[in-house]
Amino acid sequence: MSQDAPSIPNDLDAFWMPFTANRQFKKNPRMFVAAKDMHYTTSDGRQVLDGTAGLWCVNAGHCRPLITEAIQKQAAELDYAPAFQMGHPKAFELANRLADLAPEGLDHVLFTNSGSESVETALKVALAYHKVSGQGSRTRLIGRERGYHGVNFGGISVGGIVANRKMFGTLLTGVDHLPHTHLPGKNAFSRGEPQHGAELADELERIVALHDASTIAAVIVEPVAGSTGVLIPPPGYLKRLRDICDKHGILLIFDEVITGYGRLGTPFAADYFGVVPDMMITAKGLTNGVIPMGSVVVSSKIYDAFMTGPGHLIEFFHGYTYSGNPIASAAGLATLETYKQEGLLTRGAELGAYWEDALHSLRDAPHVIDIRNIGLVGAVELQPIAGEPTKRAFSAFVKAFEKGLLIRTTGDIIALSPPLIVEKGHIDQIVDTIRTVLGEVD
Ligand SMILES: Cc1ncc(COP(=O)(O)O)c(C=O)c1O
Repeated sequence: MSQDAPSIPNDLDAFWMPFTANRQFKKNPRMFVAAKDMHYTTSDGRQVLDGTAGLWCVNAGHCRPLITEAIQKQAAELDYAPAFQMGHPKAFELANRLADLAPEGLDHVLFTNSGSESVETALKVALAYHKVSGQGSRTRLIGRERGYHGVNFGGISVGGIVANRKMFGTLLTGVDHLPHTHLPGKNAFSRGEPQHGAELADELERIVALHDASTIAAVIVEPVAGSTGVLIPPPGYLKRLRDICDKHGILLIFDEVITGYGRLGTPFAADYFGVVPDMMITAKGLTNGVIPMGSVVVSSKIYDAFMTGPGHLIEFFHGYTYSGNPIASAAGLATLETYKQEGLLTRGAELGAYWEDALHSLRDAPHVIDIRNIGLVGAVELQPIAGEPTKRAFSAFVKAFEKGLLIRTTGDIIALSPPLIVEKGHIDQIVDTIRTVLGEVD
């Protein structure tokens, strides 16, 4: 360990860690103390390859100079400006850049501090939009099984991850769920979009028939479900959802918190699949994960519906103290500039075939029951240990970390999403390490 490396605090008790096995961690802490580009440095001085872009967010790699400098400069120049009834230039600049980057027709941006807040914001915009448009009976929200939309009440209500929901009471009322599209019996070891399951979009027609379109405000889906284990839509599925929403006057919301900013080899999943939603939720890669920030990019149809009535009145009663915060805005601008200068938003398309072949070479590795990939996302699904779900994947996670690779596991699925600056050599290292690890776990 270098002499000036930060030391580990000797009491880890106070911090109740998020989505973490606290007792296991605190017995055997895994601490990062520095990071650069594709690697972290651990507290005992080891280099660990980042196979997950942090939590799907560090798309340009770690400690990138433009972003670091922008934050430093902004902190010294304008640290904070009130978000309500006052402005500062960088929030407007960032909104313009984002609207330019977003698919045609998505032109207005609300800023938040996270993916979860963006989800709540989008759901509230949907309800209020129908209200201001004279269709206040449209209050139902439709999510999807195995969907992840953050951890706040709206998000877990439309989300479909049982463990994230079951402790928290009745959640929002008036929510229904589409079935997920994960069909391992038919689609295992698909490369890219899986062949079967597009007809599952028609379940939306069933839900509409049950509740009546006049009661439904919005459908929210992740174009590719990430946190629940990389569930890729079959060809035509999202287009079909779009068509059904249009037919019934329902808003379509894409939660692009993971798929945004180049993860699929296009700026957004909407570009990849050629389907434009009415609202697009982003976070994570917006600031390269460096400063908390999220956004909801909405169509002019929605924005314009609110811009009526006396000019001195607030049009939408919603916002956060830190919406468009100066330092976050500066980080966002520098991040988008880094993506542009380095062609990162399309790099996944260039490397996609190599990534796909490398991942699928693990097909004959022990315990593997499925492999899925799209852009620079991959999942290796393991056979769970009978009666002990998640244990095998968690052991793989710990072993990979010990061997210098950060992976992410959800259930018994290893999910991979390296920074978009990843090189072929890193991909080889990721796959070789996972192969070794799978040979060693029970
Ligand atoms: C699709 C999706 N939506 C929302 C969120 C929540 O984002 P945050 O953790 O920033 O609140 C996540 C986080 O992983 C996500 O993957």
